[in-house]
Amino acid sequence: MKTVETTTGEMLRETKNRLGDDILIAAHYYAVPEVKRWADEIGDSLELAQLAAGAGNARALVFCGVSFMAETAAVLSGPERPVFLPRLEAGCPLADSATAEGAGRAWTMMGPVARDFVPVTYVNSSTELKAFCGARGGATCTSSSARDVFAAVEEAGRRVFFLPDINLGRNTARSLGIRDEEISVFDPDTGDFGGSGAPGEARMLVWKGSCPVHLEFHPHHVAEARKDPATRIAVHPECSPEVCRLADEVGSTSHMVRSVAESPRDVRWAIGTEINLIKHLRNLHPHRTIDSLGPARSCRDMHLTTETDLLETLAEFERGDESRRVSVSGILARDALDAIDRMLRVLRGEALKP
Ligand code: 13P
Ligand code: SF4
Repeated sequence: MKTVETTTGEMLRETKNRLGDDILIAAHYYAVPEVKRWADEIGDSLELAQLAAGAGNARALVFCGVSFMAETAAVLSGPERPVFLPRLEAGCPLADSATAEGAGRAWTMMGPVARDFVPVTYVNSSTELKAFCGARGGATCTSSSARDVFAAVEEAGRRVFFLPDINLGRNTARSLGIRDEEISVFDPDTGDFGGSGAPGEARMLVWKGSCPVHLEFHPHHVAEARKDPATRIAVHPECSPEVCRLADEVGSTSHMVRSVAESPRDVRWAIGTEINLIKHLRNLHPHRTIDSLGPARSCRDMHLTTETDLLETLAEFERGDESRRVSVSGILARDALDAIDRMLRVLRGEALKP
């Protein structure tokens, strides 16, 4: 008798073969390995957004990740090419920490000084927040494009109001020579500006949100890994500045994949990010030592999508059932697209025109 696992795998292979180029399966590095093995493309959030923007022949896109990624893809794909998310409830607590209403409150509290700022949201955010930024001349960024987008805002003679990840905000600011004392922090729970105080005097304003997965990496994990001199440490910029300052590499999931691939074979790695990226690296480099920095950490939402969910999504698509489609339309889609498009144009070397 065949196991359920074999049957799901066989059915997936058959369905995927039948659909051919009609469907493109994209997966984020944090998707579980059993799902990633069916992906046509695996990447970080920027690469996956660029994939969605690049069209190709596919009639539809299945996105194995979380909702903000699928929504970004849907905004970029437009209404002609549907985007499906196998588990519609897969969200992101970091994205949930900032609402467009909350951002509007902070904006209003800033008064006339708001005119000096450009709102920049991490793609780990709702479409509403992206649209809030887009409608005010702002942009999105990902962990791999944050530095370029922040620099473009400064070059335009304006200041960054970054949402929702305080750590990515501070780490990126530091890479541009902006000191902690120059950053004002908006706390959505209290409605207060902290850090360097009121935004009027600050060089940058950041929203106080964070990723629960990356908050679990601490300086003492770095100290432990450092006991082995052959170990290099790579961390995601959603980790705290205290951790990032001590690491050898700080960058997006793709940056970490490249860093490991390009390093000498005798280097051992301790990686501060979600466990499925570490599993992916171990699969790519089975003879190397690649550990988690401290205990393994997993993102609950990224873990939701299973092979069965993927199979069901493909089968539904074949039947014309769009119940797992992620749709964004109207003014929201237009304004969010403006914000995403500004990021993509900055990456093509254009100046930011807020
Ligand atoms: P990347 O942009 O590095 O892929 O990260 C996405 C993410 O959700 C990190 O928590
Ligand atoms: Fe969100 Fe963190 Fe999960 Fe990334 S790892 S999707 S930021 S909760």
